[in-house]
Amino acid sequence: MPMLRDTGYPVLAPSKGYTDNITQIEDPKVIIEQYKNAVALAKEAGFDGIELLSQGGYLLHNFLCSHSNLRTDIYGGSVENRCRFVLEVADAIIEIWGPRRIGIKICPSDDYNDSAVSFKELSETYDYLIRQLVGRKLSYINLSRRGCAIGRAQDDYFKSSPRPAGKELPPNYEPFYQFGHLIKYPGSETMLMVNHEYTVAEADSLAKGGQIDLVTFGRPFIYNPGIPFAENDRGKTVNYGPYTKPDENYNDWPYASL
Ligand SMILES: Cc1cc2nc3c(=O)[nH]c(=O)nc-3n(C[C@H](O)[C@H](O)[C@H](O)COP(=O)(O)O)c2cc1C
Repeated sequence: MPMLRDTGYPVLAPSKGYTDNITQIEDPKVIIEQYKNAVALAKEAGFDGIELLSQGGYLLHNFLCSHSNLRTDIYGGSVENRCRFVLEVADAIIEIWGPRRIGIKICPSDDYNDSAVSFKELSETYDYLIRQLVGRKLSYINLSRRGCAIGRAQDDYFKSSPRPAGKELPPNYEPFYQFGHLIKYPGSETMLMVNHEYTVAEADSLAKGGQIDLVTFGRPFIYNPGIPFAENDRGKTVNYGPYTKPDENYNDWPYASL
C-alpha cells in the first residue's frame, strides 16, 4: 500500500511466514481495542452504522485463511481459532453499537490479494463463521461472490480468472447457493445482502423471489448510464485509485449532478 509505505506505518498481519514484509501482530487483543476505539469515534462522528470488511485479503480475512494465518496460539490453526479474531472484533464493536447497526462483508470465494483457499477450507470456515455471526444477530451479512467464474467481466480490473491449482471451485459455484440458507431463513434476524457483479435484472429476480434481502451495486452505480452518477465518458474502466497519484481515476470524478 503506497500510503502505508509513505507514512512508514506497519502493515499488520496475523503471522510472518507466507509473506515476511509485514509486522506480525503479537497480541490480537490490542488490535481489537483499536477496532473498538475506531467504531466509537465513528459513532461520535454521527455515522449510521458499521460494516466490517472481512474479505479482500484485508486483516480480518487474513486471520480466516490458513495460508496467511500461521499462528500457533488460539488465533490460528483450527477453524474455530482462525475465526476467533473476526468474532472477537465483532463482539467488541457490538459493545459500542449493538448488533443491529452492524453488518459484515464476507467473500468465501475471494481470490483478491492472493486470498483464495481450497473449497474444503472455504466450506468448513464459512459454515462455522456464518452460524456464529447470525447467532450474534448482526443486522446483515454482505455475501460477495468475487472469485467465482460467473461469466461476466464488467471491466478490465475484476476478471473471472482461473483459480490456483488445488483451490478450484465446483462448476457454476456461488457462495450464495451454499450459505444463503444459513443467513436467510424463517425467523432469522440477519438479512442477506449479495455483492459483486449483480445486474439489476438478476438482483430484481432474487429479491422478488424472496431469496435475498438486499443487494449492492458498486461499479454499475458509478458508470452505467441510466443509474445515478451516470453521464461519464470513461467507459467501464472505473476502478480503484490511486494509481500513480492519489487523486487519479476513481478519486477525481466530477461531482454528480442529480
Ligand atoms: C473504486 C472502488 C472502491 C471500492 N472501495 C471499497 C471499499 O472501500 N470497501 C469495500 O468493501 N468495497 C469496496 N469496493 C468494492 C465494492 O464495494 C464492490 O464490492 C465491488 O465493486 C463489486 O461490486 P460491483 O460488481 O457491483 O461493482 C470498491 C470498488 C471500487 C470499484
